[in-house]
Amino acid sequence: MIFSGLSEVGDDPILLVSTMYRACTNPNKVDLGVGVYKNAAGETAILKTVKKAEQYLVTNQKTKEYLSPAGNPDYNREVQKLLLGEMHPAIKQGRVTTIQAPGGTGGIRIGADFIKICKPDTTLWISDPTWPNHHSIARSVGLKAKSYRYYDTKKGEFLYDEMMEDFGQATAGDVIILHGCCHNASGADLTKEQWDELAVFMKERALVPFIDIAYQGFANGIDEDAYAVRMMSEKLPEVLIASSFSKNFAMYRDRAGAITLVSSSDELNKINASHMLMTVRSIYSMPPDHGAAVVAHILGDKELQAEWRKEVDEMRSRVKKMRRLFAEKMAAKAPNSGFGYIAEQNGMFSFLTLTPEQIQSLIKDHSIFMMASGRVNMAGLTEDNIDYVTDAVASLFNT
Ligand code: LMR
Repeated sequence: MIFSGLSEVGDDPILLVSTMYRACTNPNKVDLGVGVYKNAAGETAILKTVKKAEQYLVTNQKTKEYLSPAGNPDYNREVQKLLLGEMHPAIKQGRVTTIQAPGGTGGIRIGADFIKICKPDTTLWISDPTWPNHHSIARSVGLKAKSYRYYDTKKGEFLYDEMMEDFGQATAGDVIILHGCCHNASGADLTKEQWDELAVFMKERALVPFIDIAYQGFANGIDEDAYAVRMMSEKLPEVLIASSFSKNFAMYRDRAGAITLVSSSDELNKINASHMLMTVRSIYSMPPDHGAAVVAHILGDKELQAEWRKEVDEMRSRVKKMRRLFAEKMAAKAPNSGFGYIAEQNGMFSFLTLTPEQIQSLIKDHSIFMMASGRVNMAGLTEDNIDYVTDAVASLFNT
């Protein structure tokens, strides 16, 4: 027997929150756990442009024949354009390959496997805090991982200087996982000047950026949020970008993601891409079609793309509004609670500067579900539940 030596592992900390939320019977329960956008009615609706594209595909799709390990070529071209812009010098130089992947996670996994093939003793630097799956993927692939200081969850402060100090310990060829925008879990992003400084530093030290961008459009806009990927892909010879359409197309379960590889020359890029494709073939052979076909149709049609961009703008504005309202209500209900920073941060996530006991009290006494670390999904707030939530948080300060 070989299936008898294991002990049970716990749930992923994010998925655990969803399980707890589903099991809760309190009619006032609020889900601020998993990173899923909810509209003003608290629903994760299908975008109008996605419905239109799906209808188009039902009528016009002619075959379900295999694609290839690289996936849908139209999709890959559109992903590249959205990330890097049409006229990016690295694209013109033939140094870029995009491969469709099952979700952003699939992209990270392929990227990590590729790093392992290129340089098995590479150290992967991961922000503290981060999305917990970054560590799980590094472990699965067998890459060494080190944490760099990024954000003080107790004070609600971005630690730029500390981060740069930690990068000073990295050696040439190390890979640094960076969140392209809307840092998951802190919502604290680098300014353009900080990104520029980091790019110069990384080039001097021969460090390789692996940019995870899963929330493009949720900070300041589709093109604005691509600043780091565009600039780094121009300034540095080698870059990896894992991207996802789960959030900005609200196609969570359709697993439309990608890995984009930037190599130092067009010849090397061809060789590198061939290894990535071999990795895909050995893991899942080729990616699922539907999500990517929908995205390719929307991005490939000028009018539909414009309509989709508006839908993203609406999602972003709603989350920003909830951030502002939360900060205002907390300032009114518990003047010394210090949540002003929530209105300044980007994307879905922020940390509530609360003690572990206070967080557990919100979960247990009020059925407000969030990660035990205090990470909350601000997109789970609505005008219907925000008073319930801010009253509960304020009660922690006013006892
Ligand atoms: C999250 O961080 O909540 C999302 O990215 C969903 C996930 O897969 O963990």
